[in-house]
Amino acid sequence: MSTSQNASAGKAPLVVEARDLKRVYEVRRGFMRAPDHLQAVGGVSFTVQAGRTLAVVGESGCGKSTLARMISLIETPTEGQLLIQGIDTAHASREERLGLRKAVQLVFQNPYGSLNPRKKIGAILEAPLEINTSLSAGERASRARDMLARVGLRPEHYDRYPHMFSGGQRQRIAIARALMLNPALVVADEPVSALDVSIQAQVLNLLADLQQSMGLAYLFISHDLGVVRHIAHDVLVMYLGHAVEQGKKNSLFAQPLHPYTQALLASTPGIAGNDASGTIKQRIVLKGELPSPLNPPSGCVFSTRCPHVTERCRAERPLLREVANRQVACHYAEKFLPA
Ligand SMILES: Nc1ncnc2c1ncn2[C@@H]1O[C@H](COP(=O)(O)OP(=O)(O)OP(=O)(O)O)[C@@H](O)[C@H]1O
Ligand SMILES: [Mg+2]
Repeated sequence: MSTSQNASAGKAPLVVEARDLKRVYEVRRGFMRAPDHLQAVGGVSFTVQAGRTLAVVGESGCGKSTLARMISLIETPTEGQLLIQGIDTAHASREERLGLRKAVQLVFQNPYGSLNPRKKIGAILEAPLEINTSLSAGERASRARDMLARVGLRPEHYDRYPHMFSGGQRQRIAIARALMLNPALVVADEPVSALDVSIQAQVLNLLADLQQSMGLAYLFISHDLGVVRHIAHDVLVMYLGHAVEQGKKNSLFAQPLHPYTQALLASTPGIAGNDASGTIKQRIVLKGELPSPLNPPSGCVFSTRCPHVTERCRAERPLLREVANRQVACHYAEKFLPA
């Protein structure tokens, strides 16, 4: 990234501000039993500026999609405060809510599942305009054709059906649809996880280009640090519903301070400390069982799998605190700084 961009990043408006967001689900495990409480997200805070990408990483079940659903206003937080474009989403007027729904758009992992197979691409792209604007049919068609070009598709694709496209092209269509209403924030939940590695890079480059030209903020969900390294400015590492480390991508990748971040990096091909070729896609595998979110460890959430665990970790939950330019939730973070 260029220096001029870094300099301007400080002034870019805040698009999202999440303060201690929590989401608890009631889970019934029997007809006669009282419901259990599952904390899917246990107090996560962050900000995203226009033109910036915050990547959220962590293993399956750590709460990434739950967080994505809260930020995209599909689910209401159980606790905490969510501001989008400065508006407190819990106290937004009806009109403000309608505006926010346009300002925040989602892209999912499986574009085929989210594209109506019976509709042509043109109609799919025009649907958001039909519902939310008073543009004429001609204007809608012209915007859809412009958007096709912006996402690297051809004019003749306008009249084709989703099944006539490859996975990468379908994800381009899903991205195009998300951008039709000119959003401020795109929440992308594993948007390239179903694609081949070579296609992943193309779609990630497209996302980066669109971010530049449209000033978009991204909340980018991924389990794959290789992908995150490519696209993120900032990274938030989640474990069992909690942020364990968050900060600038470069600091985290150069010097992960939480043992969980260290483990994730070590198991990602093609990243420092790992001599694998970088072309094999790996699901993150850590030793030991991931605890059930219905019965989390009492001290540090990572204590049951941490190679550096002590009695203090089992007894006392470490809070996020500032160490070496990022936030870390580990009693011993300083231990991992170079001497
Ligand atoms: N509607 C729900 N009701 C009850 N529990 C839920 C619900 N949605 C998610 N959960 C639970 O919340 C936790 C977090 O789930 P979530 O889908 O957010 O994880 P994730 O990080 O997106 O995982 P993956 O990488 O597999 O997509 C899991 O334990 C999940 O079982
Ligand atoms: Mg998910």
